[in-house]
Amino acid sequence: MKTRKPMIIANWKLNGGLDLICTSVASFIGKHFDAQIAICPPYIYIRDMMTFLQYSELQIGSQNVSKYESGAYTGETSAQMLKEAGVSLCLIGHSERRTMFGETNQACFNKIARALQHELLPVLCIGENREEREQKKTQEILRQQLTESLKGLDLTGKNLCVAYEPIWAIGTGLAATPEVAQETHQFIREALVDVFDLITAQRIRILYGGSVTKNNAQDLLIQKDIDGLLVGGASLDPGHFLTICEHASRIAKEEN
Ligand code: 13P
Repeated sequence: MKTRKPMIIANWKLNGGLDLICTSVASFIGKHFDAQIAICPPYIYIRDMMTFLQYSELQIGSQNVSKYESGAYTGETSAQMLKEAGVSLCLIGHSERRTMFGETNQACFNKIARALQHELLPVLCIGENREEREQKKTQEILRQQLTESLKGLDLTGKNLCVAYEPIWAIGTGLAATPEVAQETHQFIREALVDVFDLITAQRIRILYGGSVTKNNAQDLLIQKDIDGLLVGGASLDPGHFLTICEHASRIAKEEN
């Protein structure tokens, strides 16, 4: 039995628009899920989305957050502003932000601290690239990302999520097998014990992301240390995303 409530997050990246918002939200109206479900649209759509959410359990996440509180930081959006707009969680350190926008573990640490300060749930994304996996450096990379992004944070009365997103699996159609994902999630949980402590590590949800589809979601979700999914491409098809959420909800019900 898993004590952690499963979480399914859609990361729309730089995709979507009002049409997708309407069809996605419509498919969730009036439905109950034994899982926490969130969509992270581009910033500009957060407010539009919020107005549609009165009749659904969906939550809104952001794809990023500023490490700054306020001031002369053109183009940034602060945790406080996101909170005010109704956002519940924010992705931090997605590999696309690390590789294309130079985001470092130190920046992730600062962003997570800001998110926690403003009662947003941070979802720290970590993962190795193909070369690192082939050189058997996966554990070393993950441990470094976890330690440098999390060590020293005070989680008293607060929580966070970790999303394991192997870069070689993102947008490639080559998802990690459930066995590889489970093995890696177990390693991440052990590393979290070292960063925090056993009790804290047990309550942190670890999500898997990378070529999740409605066909592989179930096999991933039944793994002991996989507490949810971070879904890219498949979340742009409302029917597929709904099916993934339904799988998570049913599995959670069966396990309890
Ligand atoms: P895909 O599901 O398209 O592989 O993307 C994963 C991802 O990056 C989610 O954050």
